[in-house]
Amino acid sequence: MRIGLIGCGTVGSSLVSLLRDEGDLLADRLGEQIEIARIAVRDLERERDAVIDRALLTASWQEVVSDPEIEMIVELMGDVPDALETIQSALAAGKSVVSANKAVLSRHLAELEEQARLVERDIFFEAAVAGGVPLIRALRISLFGERLSRIVGIVNGTTNFVLTRMQEDGVEFEEALSKARELGYAEADPTSDLDGSDAAAKAAIMASLAFGRKVTAANVRRTGIEGISASDFLFARRNGWTIKLLAVAEHYGTAAGSTLNVEVFPALVPSSHPLAGVRDSFNAVFVEGNAVGELMFFGPGAGGMPTASAVLGDVIEAAHNLRTATRARVVIQEKASFVPTEAIFARFSISMEVLDEPGVLARVSEVFGSFEISIARMEQLEVEDGVARLVFLTHQTALHAIDRASAELEKLEVVVRLHRSFRVFA
Ligand SMILES: NC(=O)c1ccc[n+]([C@@H]2O[C@H](COP(=O)([O-])OP(=O)(O)OC[C@H]3O[C@@H](n4cnc5c(N)ncnc54)[C@H](OP(=O)(O)O)[C@@H]3O)[C@@H](O)[C@H]2O)c1
Repeated sequence: MRIGLIGCGTVGSSLVSLLRDEGDLLADRLGEQIEIARIAVRDLERERDAVIDRALLTASWQEVVSDPEIEMIVELMGDVPDALETIQSALAAGKSVVSANKAVLSRHLAELEEQARLVERDIFFEAAVAGGVPLIRALRISLFGERLSRIVGIVNGTTNFVLTRMQEDGVEFEEALSKARELGYAEADPTSDLDGSDAAAKAAIMASLAFGRKVTAANVRRTGIEGISASDFLFARRNGWTIKLLAVAEHYGTAAGSTLNVEVFPALVPSSHPLAGVRDSFNAVFVEGNAVGELMFFGPGAGGMPTASAVLGDVIEAAHNLRTATRARVVIQEKASFVPTEAIFARFSISMEVLDEPGVLARVSEVFGSFEISIARMEQLEVEDGVARLVFLTHQTALHAIDRASAELEKLEVVVRLHRSFRVFA
């Protein structure tokens, strides 16, 4: 089977190596050789790994997509302007598509799947979520009959590395981020990792598959990890928690239909929970289902070879389907309704630096009271230069009440600095 590769960077060149090393084994299992027939890149002059046959290179993805001998397109170009058009053109030309493009898929998955259905081809994207961890196929096939209630993932390796270093080394955010950059876990511009948008894209894809409803990145409420301090970890540890950036997709079934909540936020996770033990750049996704109970998928969420392994699994399934004139069943219905912010309840920790003087607690409590926020516990962390650090732990409270109370607390002259609030994951 001749396939066309569009993009040959970290993942693309690993895929070429993998096919070179495992090609005979695959041919034996599949009954057919998989051959990379053309490779499109942006810059023909760029130096490349010796495994890449330069004679296959072209700077025109259109040339690869329109080649009648090529039956499948593997799109590994990333979130560039041409990526969506590349996938659409490949499907329009009757080719199956394998993509790792979480950015494009988190915006256009439902329409691309519909286009694939109409031309009776596949679009597979195992590598778009959690790199080498085989989650998408599990959601699409193994768990198809499950009534899933919740999926909670650590799906961004950069932020998990930063948070792990803060927790284990007791360092501040900037120092942990420099370490991540030094070791290649963070890109030069890590904005989309730190602000939660990368995790939100993955949450949208997971939710679409798990609940069979159209969810795009725009439907995902998100908060990133900026502003988390070493002292937040001290408080967390003292109370038996750690801090993790979670991508959460929940399904509430009602007689009238189903409602979804899809969010990304840093949370206080009990140290005893399996997700708390996911360290450094690893990814994990915790799935809760009606019949199956709790499952956890764990592994390397990025890196050339692990990601290429996920891509290769897709290539093999797509190749098998092409030869047997079949296609995968993916159901993504058009309409999804989402839980409004007012209906999201959790326990929160709210932390602030206040003047260490009489009457301050009463002023703060008054604000909590006016938003019907009930405090379960309060802790004073330290007093320095007349400023005390307080942390409040609430009972179940509406998210929007926390947001509104935080805005009011910031206005109080006795509050020197309001720190981030965290949801307690339960
Ligand atoms: N890296 C990971 O660990 C990882 C993990 C999970 C998912 N992914 C996903 O996998 C995909 C590929 O990631 P990567 O890390 O391999 O990216 P990368 O190293 O930046 O490689 C991108 C490749 O696309 C080519 N390209 C860009 N624009 C093009 C265009 N208009 N026409 C033809 N080729 C074009 C580039 O050409 P040049 O070589 O000439 O620049 C390069 O070969 C992305 O969607 C990413 O989100 C990556």
